[in-house]
Amino acid sequence: MSSDTLFSPFQLNNYTLKNRIGVAPMTRMSSVRDSVPRQDVLDFLVRRAENNAAIVYTEAIVTDYESAQGYPGQARMTTQRQIETWKPVVRAMQKHGSIAIMQMFHCGRMAWPDVNPAKRTIAPSPLTPEQKNPLTGEPYPVPDEMDLFDIEHVINGFVETAKGAVAAGFDGIEIHGAHGYLINQFLSSYCNQRTDSYGGTVENRYGFAQEIIQAVRSVVPEDRLITFRISNWGVADMEVSLYGGKEEYQQIIRLLSSEPIDAISVSTYDFTGKAFGTDQNMAQITREVTDLPIMICGKIYDRGSADKALKDADIILSAKSMLLNPNWVKDLQDGKPLEAFASDEANIAYTDTPLP
Ligand SMILES: Cc1cc2nc3c(=O)[nH]c(=O)nc-3n(C[C@H](O)[C@H](O)[C@H](O)COP(=O)(O)O)c2cc1C
Repeated sequence: MSSDTLFSPFQLNNYTLKNRIGVAPMTRMSSVRDSVPRQDVLDFLVRRAENNAAIVYTEAIVTDYESAQGYPGQARMTTQRQIETWKPVVRAMQKHGSIAIMQMFHCGRMAWPDVNPAKRTIAPSPLTPEQKNPLTGEPYPVPDEMDLFDIEHVINGFVETAKGAVAAGFDGIEIHGAHGYLINQFLSSYCNQRTDSYGGTVENRYGFAQEIIQAVRSVVPEDRLITFRISNWGVADMEVSLYGGKEEYQQIIRLLSSEPIDAISVSTYDFTGKAFGTDQNMAQITREVTDLPIMICGKIYDRGSADKALKDADIILSAKSMLLNPNWVKDLQDGKPLEAFASDEANIAYTDTPLP
């Protein structure tokens, strides 16, 4: 693949991306009133569109009021005020030629109950991560095992939030199935020890994700995008592989490939990392079993790493470089020497300092 690929267009369903570079979803915890982000956080997204990112993902938007929120200050997309707040932001991103995609999530057992109005923690099984919540320093609460009513309620939360995004004009919706949050908890036997039809085999564990995808697709018009994010790591107990091995991960990718989705976004901490004891990285292992477009992220910081990452994927996303360098896309184009940012530098995302 020639290095020109990075700045060549890409067809994602009926959307033509102007290049292969996108802003990865980034939670900012800035919503103090009405579950809408601070204006400077919204402006930040528009500026990334203006500065030539082909795709801009929102922060993870919370799907229901009872148990979905995992961090303080997260945003929602279900009230008129929330939808009206996002409309001009989405229009501005589109005006600059970017595709705007809302990411939505439910935290499941990765909960901070005090930030949820109902103070409830739910998960596939009553198991906590071994690690404490790094932000509170407290152990995560033992979740209630979700019953069928909870499952239906949570799926409705995804559907209502997707409807909000459609009403706000978003080009696409991402279902967050990564990072050890609720959907990922169902997919992984590390967190899912159910004995009903949602647990046990890979197909059974996949059932919850499938129901969400199909329910969301039924309210998202055909001409808008749905992407699904996946990872083999979770924010807590990070060293644990969430899948039994390459086979099991690929089985999930095959199942996802037969769903009505438009791309799979693979999240890693370092895209070059070899996975599941093989000499392949996550994008290569994903590519082997799907024809769907693949997005990849994880320590892509300069032109060399971007070109390299694109060898096994169609689109690259960056969180930290997009967060801390407003001119990142131009710097890539110019082949400027750049350094990777460290995770603690990204903590500025959670302060009230407006970012350039
Ligand atoms: C400040 C910050 C907030 C993040 N919030 C989210 C999020 O809301 N949803 C998500 O899927 N990933 C989130 N991530 C993970 C990134 O999307 C990305 O997967 C990860 O940072 C690796 O990419 P990078 O090396 O380019 O930073 C966040 C990362 C950072 C730095």
